[in-house]
Amino acid sequence: MELKGRTAVVTGGGSGIGRALAHAFAREGMRVALADVDEAGMAEVAGAIRAEGGEALAVPTDVADLASVQALADRAFAAFGRVHVLCNNAGVATSGGIEQATHRDWQWVLGVNLWGVIHGLEAFLPRMIAQKEPAHIVNTASMAGLIASQGLGVYNTSKYAVVGLSETLAKDLRPYGIGVSVLCPMGVSTRIGESERNRPAALANPTPTAAAPVELIGRFLAPEAVAGMVLDAIRANRPYVITHDEGLEPLRKRFQRMERAVLEGKR
Ligand SMILES: NC(=O)c1ccc[n+]([C@@H]2O[C@H](COP(=O)([O-])OP(=O)(O)OC[C@H]3O[C@@H](n4cnc5c(N)ncnc54)[C@H](O)[C@@H]3O)[C@@H](O)[C@H]2O)c1
Repeated sequence: MELKGRTAVVTGGGSGIGRALAHAFAREGMRVALADVDEAGMAEVAGAIRAEGGEALAVPTDVADLASVQALADRAFAAFGRVHVLCNNAGVATSGGIEQATHRDWQWVLGVNLWGVIHGLEAFLPRMIAQKEPAHIVNTASMAGLIASQGLGVYNTSKYAVVGLSETLAKDLRPYGIGVSVLCPMGVSTRIGESERNRPAALANPTPTAAAPVELIGRFLAPEAVAGMVLDAIRANRPYVITHDEGLEPLRKRFQRMERAVLEGKR
């Protein structure tokens, strides 16, 4: 898919991977709409894009709220007429055993990581289909959407759901000429470890959890490197963006466990 002259929407565009995606799209000559709860972060990204001669719109958005994402879609279509690339990327993370997770942990993490993606589809997809132009959706999951880790259960749940949703979405949207990629990174140097900064007061835990952050295996990549891989995947319509070679071995082991289950389960 050709990117120049087209329009991209990036949720979570005020920081980390979303910020790098926004810059990468702008450098390809795309118009970019940023959506984030972090208005200061977004303003900085939009300002930097404009300073380089690009076109950027910053729309304060809470992806956990359908009305807010619908308002984002209305603003993006009003400003640009078309949306060709939708990156449902905003996300938050918690750590700690599932047995210790609070109802509010589930609501917050699933609200942003899973419902945020669903809201993006609900708000944008009908118009993206109706415009009848090449288009692509990128959903940010994680290697945590393919491999389970002790202490990441709430996050794992949200990201496995995004992988499943994306795999089906790719099949459902093929007849419309809309591609789908699911982004599954391991460590990326961003502010994801400070996710609590974005937690709404209504979903705060009465006593903050004492769980230590889960140590990720593998390298930490720069968000710009990840953004480059996403752009390549959009151009080539690749279903998965798996950024770390380190993921191969745990993935193999997971499928070997499943294979064993199939073979051993036979009577
Ligand atoms: N950094 C990693 O190691 C890593 C690995 C795998 C997957 N991911 C995923 O990458 C995505 C981007 O995260 P990041 O690593 O760039 O972290 P980040 O914290 O730097 O950026 C996340 C952005 O999402 C925004 N956000 C949070 N809640 C929001 C909400 N309710 N509505 C709108 N925006 C909201 C934040 O304000 C922030 O700007 C997430 O989905 C995350 O789960 C990150």
